[in-house]
Amino acid sequence: MNIYIKNITEVNCVCDALILPFTEGDSGLYDHLDSNISGLVKKLFSKEFRGKQNDLILIPAPENIKPERLLLVGLGKKEELSNEHIRQAAGKAVVYLRDRGMKNIALSSHVISSYNLSPIDFIEGALLGVYTFEKYLTEKNNNKIDRLTLLSGDVKKLKDDLHWTETIATSVCLARDLINTPSNDMTPAQLASTALSLRNNNLKVKVLEKKDMQKLGMGALLSVAKGSHEPPKFIVLEYKDAKDSPVVIIGKSVTFDSGGLSLKPADGMERMKDDMSGGAAVLGIMKAVSEMKMPVYLIGILPATENLPGGSATKPGDVVKSIDGKTIEIINTDAEGRLILADAIGYAKRFNPKAIIDIATLTGACSIALGNEAIAMMGNQRELMDKIKKAADKTYERVWEMPLFKEYKEYLKSDIADLKNNSGKSGALVTSAYFLYEFAGNIPWVHLDIAGTAWTEKDRPYIPKGASGIGVRLILNLIKELK
Ligand code: BES
Ligand code: MN
Ligand code: ZN
Repeated sequence: MNIYIKNITEVNCVCDALILPFTEGDSGLYDHLDSNISGLVKKLFSKEFRGKQNDLILIPAPENIKPERLLLVGLGKKEELSNEHIRQAAGKAVVYLRDRGMKNIALSSHVISSYNLSPIDFIEGALLGVYTFEKYLTEKNNNKIDRLTLLSGDVKKLKDDLHWTETIATSVCLARDLINTPSNDMTPAQLASTALSLRNNNLKVKVLEKKDMQKLGMGALLSVAKGSHEPPKFIVLEYKDAKDSPVVIIGKSVTFDSGGLSLKPADGMERMKDDMSGGAAVLGIMKAVSEMKMPVYLIGILPATENLPGGSATKPGDVVKSIDGKTIEIINTDAEGRLILADAIGYAKRFNPKAIIDIATLTGACSIALGNEAIAMMGNQRELMDKIKKAADKTYERVWEMPLFKEYKEYLKSDIADLKNNSGKSGALVTSAYFLYEFAGNIPWVHLDIAGTAWTEKDRPYIPKGASGIGVRLILNLIKELK
């Protein structure tokens, strides 16, 4: 979908459909354009459309104007209006038009601008909403929107914002593609070659092999990889455009989580191809940061492996040693995420980072606590968590903070090793984070559990069913504020 910004009036815009956003109950918003439009709208407002959030109605346009159709879209109550309402209305409206064969559409933006909101949020919702994953379909869907023209007098300012938004949306869609791709094609090696394909003048990529991991003493990560024939990869991306110490983002990259010998039930196991959603987000973020040439020093790490129950798989009760020397008793091989993250956090410390953020589909308990509506956030630094909260409000990739009480340390005590990797159901969300905290120590660190939000079982206004790509928009907005 190509985006254009034009300073022309609505009635002169040649298009299949012109989108007119309405706040609830306000039928007069377009009266100044044309008396025929005004008359049609008044009629609709008396019955079938009143501008409720995400309501849509498509009508033929009056003969005297250039657009062929008008799509009225509701933004809801004006007192509640936010950028999220705009994104949602956009996703709904643009998908609706696409599914009805429209190719060339336009948006009237003055109502959005009059509430001090940016029509760019509409573009964001539209680009994210029309995402499809058709790689494995023999017959592709022919319904595609070619042009979306934003009608606005503010062309220059919007063009700069548009570049940022298009870059972000492309990165979210890259993450979604990687996650939606099944694990027979999305192996650790495939993640590594995706990372290598992002390489350019300002983005260095290094892939550590199994023997390198052995040398480094990544016994925790290697213990997860042992049950699979797919070689693990430890992928490091480095983008440096600032002199201070780096921020490291680590993304859990289990390309398939069967649970290992602590095997998961068959029902729903196919979902576990999404257990590399954290890693996919990190790749999306690194791509966008380097394309936008943001003035930061950022390192991305993907510890990538499968978790399978092969003949040489790790067995419950085994003890392994992590990169920083701590020993771990593996009570449950399905609690593999914290093992690979422990080694990744240990490795990240070498860069003397000013912050480590990990993003991971870590626990089923995350969605038990928060459903599919929020990321669980835990960490050891207030300032960084506050900044993440701000970015979360802005992007609607919402976070909810959970505690790291020191008493949780007890839960992770092993009889024979420094730590155990599972302490049962009680507090499973927070104890998994506490486990990571033991490795982060006093380096500023925040953990984001995206197990409830990485995947959606239903279509949302701008997140089609499947991988959400969550984390990309959140962390890019955070980084923008960090500089
Ligand atoms: N990848 C899963 C967590 C998960 C579950 C993500 C469901 C998305 C949906 C993780 O590796 C896992 O298996 N966690 C276990 C840990 C338990 C054995 C301590 C869990 O949460 O059940
Ligand atoms: Mn698991
Ligand atoms: Zn997992």
